[in-house]
Amino acid sequence: MSFTLQPSPPARPNRCQLFGPGSRPAIFEKMAASAADVVNLDLEDAVAPADKAQARKNIIAAVNDIDWGAKTLSVRINGLDTEYWYRDVVDLLENCGERLDLMMIPKVGNAKDIYAVDALVSAIEAATGRKKRIGFEVIIETAAGLAHVEEIAAASPRMQAMNLGAADYAASMGMATTGIGGTQERYYMLENARPDSDGDGAERAMHWADPWHYPTVAIVAACRSHGLLPVDGPYGDFSDDEGFRAQARRAATLGMVGKWAIHPRQVALANEVFTPSEEMLAQARRILEAMEKAQAEGAGAVTLDGKLIDIASIKQARVILGQAELIASGG
Ligand code: COA
Ligand code: MG
Repeated sequence: MSFTLQPSPPARPNRCQLFGPGSRPAIFEKMAASAADVVNLDLEDAVAPADKAQARKNIIAAVNDIDWGAKTLSVRINGLDTEYWYRDVVDLLENCGERLDLMMIPKVGNAKDIYAVDALVSAIEAATGRKKRIGFEVIIETAAGLAHVEEIAAASPRMQAMNLGAADYAASMGMATTGIGGTQERYYMLENARPDSDGDGAERAMHWADPWHYPTVAIVAACRSHGLLPVDGPYGDFSDDEGFRAQARRAATLGMVGKWAIHPRQVALANEVFTPSEEMLAQARRILEAMEKAQAEGAGAVTLDGKLIDIASIKQARVILGQAELIASGG
């Protein structure tokens, strides 16, 4: 173990982040009534250039007037490569009340991007006498963002979460796909050729590999070492529930705490996958009981159901139980 202890991430549930375009105010009340832990009102890519100014007004009114309950309320601003972002920050912070929790910064490339937004936000907070410090969440969705993921995680005490944005990431990396998350048709391993005993051309099994594995793990590692929440981004095919579940389960297995919903039907799916199941909780409790008994008897490692468990198993079990407690307490 390093001398430096791993910091805890913000203690709030983040199983699902429901997105909606700022140019479509008719859905804001539905977003507030949803079961998502986080709501993301968008000023960026779901809003056409001609609608940016009106979308800002819609979002300011919604932040101030709608009852968002216990949700974490986040607004996605435009990227620092656009002409829009400074006006997003200024208008939001000068006109939104203290209910606004986070700003989501897309297409972050390095720590200086965060520094620039932090400087502007800090000045507006001071000038307007805002009491609650706005938090930041970012999207890692460019080659530069991935290359600098660690310095971005450490860039500001405002940082709370990092999200993987599959579509922009694929474009920036020059990946040969137009899919948004999930299994990619041409990304597979093929079983080695075998002698064909009956000569009828034996089928060679295809195994679907995960093209999002590396950025997912890089984000999880950066987040865990700097006390942030790692979150999986969008799954584009919102008619494919099983595809969403499979993507979300892989993300959860790798350490992410939640996933975006780009359509309301994905909210329940994300909540289902990122809430530890009764079965997982029961097994975690059994591990803790078995280890308590082992430790009372002076043993560090014992057998449970024919498998090794040891002191690391206590930590694994506590991750699962801690997640369930956080969700039950509503943060
Ligand atoms: N949040 C809350 N409610 C939503 C919603 C959302 N993001 N999107 C749609 N709804 C509502 C609709 O208003 C409709 O409500 P109703 O039953 O009361 O009429 C219901 O959910 C079903 O909507 P549906 O007709 O299936 O979808 P749509 O064609 O209206 O919209 C999208 C589909 C994908 C355009 C829309 O969901 C959307 O804009 N999603 C977010 C996109 C986004 O923000 N992207 C940026 C991040 S990648
Ligand atoms: Mg994007």
